[in-house]
Amino acid sequence: MLHLTLVLLIVCRMGKGVAQVPNCKTENTCDCCKSNPNDESRRLSDICNNQQGSSWSCKYGCKDGYWGNKCWNYCPGSCISCPQNYESNKVCNVCDDGYYGTICATHCPANCADNQCDKTTGTCLQGCASTNWAGKKCNVCADTWYGINCDSPCPRNCNNGECKENGDCTDGCSAERFTGMQCDQCITGRYGVDCNKTCPENCNDSMCTREDGNCLNGCKGNFAGERCTRCKTERYGTMCRNTCPDNCVNKLCDEKDGICLKCITGFYGKSCDLACSPNCKDNVCDQNTGKCALGCIDTEENGCDQPTLMEPNGQTSDTVTSDMLERHKIIMIGGMVGGFVFILVIIQVQWFILRRMSRQTNTEQRYITPDQSKPEEKNEEGVYANPDYYGDGNFGEL
Ligand SMILES: *[C@@H]1O[C@H](CO)[C@@H](O)[C@H](O)[C@H]1NC(C)=O
Ligand SMILES: *[C@@H]1O[C@H](CO)[C@@H](O)[C@H](O)[C@H]1NC(C)=O
Repeated sequence: MLHLTLVLLIVCRMGKGVAQVPNCKTENTCDCCKSNPNDESRRLSDICNNQQGSSWSCKYGCKDGYWGNKCWNYCPGSCISCPQNYESNKVCNVCDDGYYGTICATHCPANCADNQCDKTTGTCLQGCASTNWAGKKCNVCADTWYGINCDSPCPRNCNNGECKENGDCTDGCSAERFTGMQCDQCITGRYGVDCNKTCPENCNDSMCTREDGNCLNGCKGNFAGERCTRCKTERYGTMCRNTCPDNCVNKLCDEKDGICLKCITGFYGKSCDLACSPNCKDNVCDQNTGKCALGCIDTEENGCDQPTLMEPNGQTSDTVTSDMLERHKIIMIGGMVGGFVFILVIIQVQWFILRRMSRQTNTEQRYITPDQSKPEEKNEEGVYANPDYYGDGNFGEL
């Protein structure tokens, strides 16, 4: 008996939505009538009125899913319980899970938790199926999500993390250094993933690339290089505002101190403003010392190897000038010492001549001759240091 009831129940439930082949009707029984709430025995005499004739009807209404006097009619669509007199107002009592509306013909919003929605209004009864969704019908994205399925997170730099349906930030950016509708760009002068690095100071227009901070539109002024930290060709010094000396090959010089990398032929010195000696072969001399690098044209000429001193032609640096002074000094001291020695030699020669003359006129007078085999010794000042020359004490006789 229990078994039969179960089968009938399943068949009745299965009936919903299927074409009108009601089991209840063909059996011509009261199987789809509700039981007596006080007596579950389901005696026909109890649940059916006027059982003997064809005009019988269910006494306590219909089982869920049926309507009509004999409960021979299925409730419509996804309505799982309708009034016995459904025909008169066509309002369903209970919708199956996932449906709502007067005849339960509408699907619940797709993102309602557990597919549960209010039978009349369709609002989700258990909240939303995921935190990506919001709204009574869970049909809009939660604050920090966007996209058709609300599965795209809002751009990370949106203020409060909130964005619109298209992903543009709702309320600007979370910090001033970001810009763009989605706050995914850096303001001018900043770079890096977080836009918190400052572009190199000499970038033209302060523009640099997002990734590595290299200047985007070239450099300001006389600067060069990817980050504009170097001087462009022919420039050196503070702010690269100085021009390399004219005599540097290709006008290339050290960008810090302006020293020529190489001098053009015929010149030497830090600024290549000193001329090689005219006696240097091929007019080539050492860039640092000025000495003829390939030897001399006239090897007889004394001092061919010596650098010629030239007046610096305008653009000398301080160091070059002090170099020049140093050379002048050396030559002047050398000259003075040489002159002094020369004078002493003259005096010595005169002294000999005078002594010889004196000996000729006064042959009786004997004196000791200085030892001529002894080499002359000079001290640094070029003064004769051989004591023999002073030892005879005969100066008074001259
Ligand atoms: C930039 O931001 C990152 C991460 O927020 C941080 O680690 C870094 O120190 C910041 N750099 C500067 C220069 O502020
Ligand atoms: C600096 O940038 C501007 C704009 O991009 C450009 O017109 C100009 O030529 C740039 N200047 C230099 C020196 O590259």
